Amino acid sequence: MSQSDTELLKSSPTDLARAADLLRAGRLVAFPTETVYGLGADARNGTAVAAIYMAKGRPSFNPLIAHVASTPHARTLVTWNEHAQALADAFWPGPLTLVLPLRPGHGLSSLVTAGLDTLAVRVPAHPVAQALLRDFDGPVAAPSANLSGRISPTTAQHVLDGLGGRIAAVVDAGPCTVGLESTIVGLGEAPVLLRPGGVAREDIERCLGMSLSVVSESAAVTAPGQLLSHYAPNAAVRLNASSAMPSEVVLGFGPMACDLNLSPNGDLAEAAANLFDHLHQLDRTGRRIAVAPIPEIGLGAAINDRLRRAAAPRDS
Ligand code: TXA
Ligand code: MG
Repeated sequence: MSQSDTELLKSSPTDLARAADLLRAGRLVAFPTETVYGLGADARNGTAVAAIYMAKGRPSFNPLIAHVASTPHARTLVTWNEHAQALADAFWPGPLTLVLPLRPGHGLSSLVTAGLDTLAVRVPAHPVAQALLRDFDGPVAAPSANLSGRISPTTAQHVLDGLGGRIAAVVDAGPCTVGLESTIVGLGEAPVLLRPGGVAREDIERCLGMSLSVVSESAAVTAPGQLLSHYAPNAAVRLNASSAMPSEVVLGFGPMACDLNLSPNGDLAEAAANLFDHLHQLDRTGRRIAVAPIPEIGLGAAINDRLRRAAAPRDS
């Protein structure tokens, strides 16, 4: 496959019908969600799901999120509980993923869960994701549409930069509004925060009326997306930089001199929406990226989580 073999689709009904047909045929289609672009495959088709792992070069033990159009559809895949209902009522459709026990007869390929007996499921809010999922009328397994270990894509161009020629199509609906991945909450006996993301932890705790415990890095076996350096750009990253060294480019936050600013006004939602795009741009300079301090509150916690991964030591 060459780069030009990846179809560039828009969000017209004809193009979305084409995207759904490609999914039915077991092909890979990248599509927009409000968080990041996902690399979708029919979650019931093991060969199609395997193609995701191959296209991304992703470690095979990393389970995927199943995307569906509605809460009733989600409930056919997992064993539901009170906490799930409360969170779905409050945050679905939206940037929240729930991990629940797989329900017998779910029909999903075991590659989706990488063999776990739990499933991560999400109902995205993006109208184009909604339209595609309704047209396809089935669960779509979709990790972020980037090569494994690289920055998550927030535009169709980011997808093509990494996966052009490796996937059947990308549906282009412009930049993602949230700009970082969904928050993942595990709903076993006690709710746990598996990954910070687009819904602030505080809002989830308020909804459940209890505090969430956080799964530590050492428990990464059950949440392998928590692997350090999972979101790494090519360039080295230095955090909490109060000033730049001569060889560096500066990623700013709040009013300051810098090469690119996540949010000149210090707005964390704006910073989240810009995060991956700015990292992509600065990564292209080939210079070390010095990042200004980001407050550890609200979406700042998720941004810092991504930045710490980007800055974690790695082999290559
Ligand atoms: O916003 C998002 O969540 C995006 C869009 C495309 O929906 N998707 C995304 O998928 O970020 P991905 O594959 O890059 O991250 C999925 C995360 C991984 O950290 C994975 O380990 C975790 O979900 N996960 C999936 N199934 C799990 C399970 N059964 N138990 C614990 N963690 C799970
Ligand atoms: Mg990812």
